[in-house]
Amino acid sequence: MTARGLFITLEGVDGAGKSTHAGWLVDAIRASGRTVLATREPGGTPLGERLRELVLHEPMHLETETLLMFAGRCEHVRTVIEPALASGAWVVCDRYTDATYAYQGGGRELGAERIAALEQWMQPGLQPDRTWLFDVPPEVARQRLSASRDPDRFEREAGAFFERVRAAYHARAQAQPRRLHIIDGSRSVDEVRAQLEAELRALLESAQ
Ligand code: TYD
Repeated sequence: MTARGLFITLEGVDGAGKSTHAGWLVDAIRASGRTVLATREPGGTPLGERLRELVLHEPMHLETETLLMFAGRCEHVRTVIEPALASGAWVVCDRYTDATYAYQGGGRELGAERIAALEQWMQPGLQPDRTWLFDVPPEVARQRLSASRDPDRFEREAGAFFERVRAAYHARAQAQPRRLHIIDGSRSVDEVRAQLEAELRALLESAQ
């Protein structure tokens, strides 16, 4: 029987640097001889990508936004993530349920309880094996977000929103320290990569 793949997720406030390191991480896993699938949320399926357009750009109520995040995730988990893991592939997902706790739960102040209920209903059991949380103070993140880029509904939020997002991420990391590892994203790209490289090596060894 094929061993199940590992499920890795990348999290952090916008501009924390996760996208800079995602490509390298996927290449490094592939170079180790594993099959790896790179995907993202919101998105990851044709339906999910259409929902992404809506949640990033269409004004809506908080409850609608939260339900759409989970609708896209439901499709993603069932049609892409679970089958890939079952086939032995590793999956690297740019954002997952921690982002809903951080952005809708923390940033938009929905709280964790309703999100936990939706999570329980939709995906019992499917937790990432490892989550790397790219962490920077919101003012650093903001400076990094390109001024030329047209900001989405989240990127247009004020500083206090990102403080709440960050605090909610920290609370998750504190509650689940074995899964959720914080990466100090305010260091240089090389320093961050060195930490990731060491952590990935340990993960590859543990999965042998
Ligand atoms: P992001 O993944 O940062 O993509 P890009 O690098 O192209 O901007 O953007 C997705 C946005 O969606 C981000 O601001 C966080 C938000 N989001 C939520 O609010 N809740 C969620 O559950 C997820 C997955 C993302």
